[in-house]
Amino acid sequence: MATPASSTARPHPRTPAAPKPPFPHHAGSAISIEQFSLVDISHVLKRADFLIHEEPLTRAKRLAKRRVALLFYESSTRTRTSFELAAKSLGIDTTLVSNLSSSIEKGESLKDTGLTLRALGAEAIILRHNCSGAPYVLEHFTNLPVLNAGDGQHEHPSQALLDLLTMLTHISPKHAKGEVELTAETLKGVTVSIVGDILHSRVARSNMLLLPKLGAEVVLSGPPELLPDVAAESAPGVVIERDFETALKRSRVVMMLRIQSERLAGLNVDLEEYKVKYQLNETRLAQFAPEAIVLHPGPIIRGLELTAEVADGPQAKILEQVHNGLPTRMALIERAFDAIDKKGASR
Ligand code: CP
Repeated sequence: MATPASSTARPHPRTPAAPKPPFPHHAGSAISIEQFSLVDISHVLKRADFLIHEEPLTRAKRLAKRRVALLFYESSTRTRTSFELAAKSLGIDTTLVSNLSSSIEKGESLKDTGLTLRALGAEAIILRHNCSGAPYVLEHFTNLPVLNAGDGQHEHPSQALLDLLTMLTHISPKHAKGEVELTAETLKGVTVSIVGDILHSRVARSNMLLLPKLGAEVVLSGPPELLPDVAAESAPGVVIERDFETALKRSRVVMMLRIQSERLAGLNVDLEEYKVKYQLNETRLAQFAPEAIVLHPGPIIRGLELTAEVADGPQAKILEQVHNGLPTRMALIERAFDAIDKKGASR
């Protein structure tokens, strides 16, 4: 006898976790935050603090006339500018290749573009790409260190590191300067809420993977269309709280995210309803999180995910985040060249 369909229905099988790829190949690459141990991150923070305070002319001799290419398939203000200024501060010659003004427009592939940049002397490539995983492909074909400047909906590791630097500056300055090694308890008792369009956010993903390593609790808040339940499985220490005000009450850090309208196709998101439930305004902030710092990776859309008053208010540390991009990216570029030189010396 046939069993009724309802009694045989099983939950939809989950896609098994992908095996860990043998990436990155190059010790100087920064593709995923997962490749960074706490010791690595402490070192990045220490070098960031050192380099930003170093006398500029001395610093510019560190990597004088070395070459880095910035390869950008998506628009960027903060990441591109800070990586470029960071490289130049170390004395590096940089070149920018954008999909809008290069032979990429004529159909040249990522592989051929990467090989072309290598043939022109690029020793490392800073890549922003609209496809998740593109930095692995570029690294595979060029054998150069690749610094991920944001790939699709995957990761934005340098953003997570500068976010961490900003948080630590307010919570534990000694850790921010790298004077004290990070441990699994450095952010114990600290709740960081990440709010909004988690689904499309590579910044959220990198932070979700990073912050629990230091003992932080990560609370995700947003509507189901932009925050699927499965997001809570991203890492131990990540939970979902759909009620924004409840999430705010617990938060020492509130990270607001932009709704990525360019990636919303097919999703039914009512922006007016979104604002009612999830917009960070002065009243909410004062009532539920008066001691919290407010972060945002940018670009911010005033009047949508947060109000202008919050963006310009004393709790917002958004421009501090932008500023921290420079030392963090100097340290990541130096790390890439340290690995290049080590590899060369061992040949
Ligand atoms: N945070 C960030 O990635 O900003 P940009 O897109 O301006 O680089």
